Amino acid sequence: MRNLFWLMAGMLMLAAARAEAAPETVASPSGALRFTLDTDPDGRPVWSLAREGGAVVNPSRLGFILGDAPKLERNFEIVEVARHSADSRWEQPWGERRFVTDRHNELVVTLREKTPLKRLLRLRVRLFDDGLGFRIEFPQQPNLTTARIVEELTEFDLAQPGTAWWIPGGEWNRYEYLYNRTSIEGVGQAHTPITFRTDAGLHLSIHEAALVDYAGMWLRRVEGQRFKARLSPSGTGPSVVRDLPFATPWRVMLVAPDAAKLYAASDIILNLNEPSKLPDIGTWFRPHKYVGVWWEMHLETASWATGPKLGATTANTRRYIDFAAANGFRSVLVEGWNPGWDGDWFATGHDFDFTRPTPYFDLQGLSTYARGKGVRIMGHHETAGNIRVYEAQLGAALDLYQRLGVDSVKTGYVADAGGILAPDGSYQWHDGQVMSRHHLKVVEEAAKRRIAVNPHEPIKDTGLRRTWPNWVAREGARGMEYNAWGNPKNPPAHEINLIFTRMLSGPMDYTPGILSLTGKGGAPIPSTMARQLALYVLLYSPIQMAADLPENYARHPGPFRFIKDVPADWEQTVMLAGEVGAFALIARKDRHSRDWYVGGGTDESPREAELPLAFLDKGRRYEAQIYADGPAADYRTDGRADIAITKRIVTSADRIPIRMGPGGGVAIRFRAL
Ligand code: NOJ
Repeated sequence: MRNLFWLMAGMLMLAAARAEAAPETVASPSGALRFTLDTDPDGRPVWSLAREGGAVVNPSRLGFILGDAPKLERNFEIVEVARHSADSRWEQPWGERRFVTDRHNELVVTLREKTPLKRLLRLRVRLFDDGLGFRIEFPQQPNLTTARIVEELTEFDLAQPGTAWWIPGGEWNRYEYLYNRTSIEGVGQAHTPITFRTDAGLHLSIHEAALVDYAGMWLRRVEGQRFKARLSPSGTGPSVVRDLPFATPWRVMLVAPDAAKLYAASDIILNLNEPSKLPDIGTWFRPHKYVGVWWEMHLETASWATGPKLGATTANTRRYIDFAAANGFRSVLVEGWNPGWDGDWFATGHDFDFTRPTPYFDLQGLSTYARGKGVRIMGHHETAGNIRVYEAQLGAALDLYQRLGVDSVKTGYVADAGGILAPDGSYQWHDGQVMSRHHLKVVEEAAKRRIAVNPHEPIKDTGLRRTWPNWVAREGARGMEYNAWGNPKNPPAHEINLIFTRMLSGPMDYTPGILSLTGKGGAPIPSTMARQLALYVLLYSPIQMAADLPENYARHPGPFRFIKDVPADWEQTVMLAGEVGAFALIARKDRHSRDWYVGGGTDESPREAELPLAFLDKGRRYEAQIYADGPAADYRTDGRADIAITKRIVTSADRIPIRMGPGGGVAIRFRAL
């Protein structure tokens, strides 16, 4: 009886406390999105999101499991609330668009444990009209000085049924997978960005921003449509070890009514990053196109290893430099220039020397020869995942490049997931805390020497190019190399899937432009000729490779013209139309002229459309140079090379009929008259 009395009294007290603690909410500037933070009866913080009154995310938990202290999950109360708003516009040194608008409302909620430990967490939420970001801050406090985070308990419980496009997280091949298209309930453990379309047509993407000194977030479906953060593991214990104060990366959700608006919403990721630390970047990095001693190795007609097939010889590199100079390419990538490639380098990397060339490569002479022609050598640091060897040489390696005027470097981390050898001898993941630190270390050291960085087998992009604009591109998905030797090669839907998933996170060094349309042994590539051109507009990067062999470009002077013309830096970007995994039509305005460019691509299905040219500058005439799939163009047949190149004069009042063959595309230059 006494027990029952105390139980009832306790319940009444709880009810009284709940009545006082109203949930905190914040709306986006237009009011379309509304975020709510509440605590459940056990004092667990829970967040939810609604759009125009309808639930998008059901109440979802927040919290952390620590390795050496009670978990941070229950018994919290809200002790402080602050609100701010922002409405600003900032200029990118380079990008998909010159100006980015940052309009959001911010809510900052401090939560304190009701237990004697009284530990604090602070949730900072920024609500934009097309998405949100939130992060947990760990303020300085007496009872928590170092956080050893074993698990982050952030959840996303999606409220509406729908379809998901995703690649597996935590698998051996890092991010290099074809996209799964399943029901939301069919997702397992996924990398981000992951894209969803609800049955009602709402488009969502979950990702993160500003992944700094923390482990990358995978998403694991727990039950139904409830996803939970899973931090990339560490070979040395907790996924994240940080001294307080610090903040987690932003957990980001883009929310848009259609696929084209989802693409535009990805500016949120940039807005959530810190402003640039390199105010003078414009004086030493300009977006550009490059060629390289590269595709021939993937075709296996040349080798990285020394011997009769070595690609990185002085003579061969001169040939590429001459080709670059004759055709207006800024840089020449050379892989296999340094010792370490002989024998089994994959996932070992013990022998890589980044401070001297092989005897077959006159690094000094070639750098001088290139500069005399207005061309630069692009450096290459393949580490095979051995950052112990790489970090020991990093300063000297970058000093060498700086001395020679090599002002960009492609890095590489070819090793299976979990196979990064760290300086302390531990093995780590490509997207764990150790690698989040390593990449920023390379980027900072490179910035000191005015060198741009382009990692392959990287950590995912979380918008850090805003803060470090010398981090210009990366791989981080199945790229063109799979069309040389992959099984399967990249099916047409893959590149379209990339646009609505991976590309939401930032630039990709996809390396397009294979006009031979053949891979290793002459095997056909599942693409049309026009589509190879369209990729320069569809898959954004401030460094775009013309990846084919010079002799193949010589065979196709008509289409090659577009590759020479297309810029790599844009004033504006507009997705004209698109559907996730089906097709996309993107218009971009050159940042350094009045010209516009359009790229279109489709999956395996042919598509026809009338393209309204309303995006063009009003009152101006343009010569439209149209590179379209010819009547026979089909990725499955020998007709794939059929391309129709035509010209016509147009204005913004016109419409152009376009037709893309199966697996095809269209590329158009609108030359301002
Ligand atoms: C994999 C990269 O993606 C590719 O571009 C490079 O050629 C090889 N690693 C060797 O570094």
